[in-house]
Amino acid sequence: KKTIQIAIDGPAGAGKSTIAKIVAEKLGFTYIDTGAMYRAITYKALQQGVSLADEAALSELLRQSTITLKPSERGQLVFLDGQDVSEVIRTNDVTASVSEVAAHADIREQMVAAQQQLAEAGGVVMDGRDIASHVLPQAELKVFMSATVEERARRRFVDNEKRGIPATIESLIEDIARRDKLDSEREVSPLVQADDAIYLDTTSLTIDEAAEEILRLANAQM
Ligand code: C5P
Repeated sequence: KKTIQIAIDGPAGAGKSTIAKIVAEKLGFTYIDTGAMYRAITYKALQQGVSLADEAALSELLRQSTITLKPSERGQLVFLDGQDVSEVIRTNDVTASVSEVAAHADIREQMVAAQQQLAEAGGVVMDGRDIASHVLPQAELKVFMSATVEERARRRFVDNEKRGIPATIESLIEDIARRDKLDSEREVSPLVQADDAIYLDTTSLTIDEAAEEILRLANAQM
């Protein structure tokens, strides 16, 4: 069997990371959460008081930062300049600011280059917004995963409860809808379904069912 690249894109809360992790584990592939990289630089910008609108300052900050992803039992740990930021990059503050940072062309250019390098060896499952369209246009399998806003907010709610992050369903629907809009309408590589991507609606699928479907599609390519 050969190793392939699997690109999973879709809006916030569609189940991408949960399902991508399972698929990667089953195939013995590396899971790469690109959203975590945008979250890490957003966290640093907030910490250092760098304006989220200042593209030049953010780019410089990113150039001086080291973001590394390390596989762990629970999927993946995220390190920023050697410090474990896996948890702090999931807070409401970072979530509310990340799309503004991710909209800058200079930031995306650096991130895409780093992500392409991470995927070079093959045998990767990468999730994000622009993976099929920009990062890995040659990926053997491209999946565009979505679900209704209500279902995505419900999942985030359950997830947040587990992590001890306070939120209401209403605020989550609002946050998700706002991020969808920012991510889909930005000028630089917006969230779109690539022409050759397979659409997977996870609204009424369990996590295992969605993972099974992607594994079936992946095996057909190997
Ligand atoms: O996947 P996650 O929800 O953690 O991503 C956080 C944010 O990072 C997204 O809302 C989007 O603004 C940005 N992002 C992106 N391109 C990617 C991955 C994430 O613009 N490939």
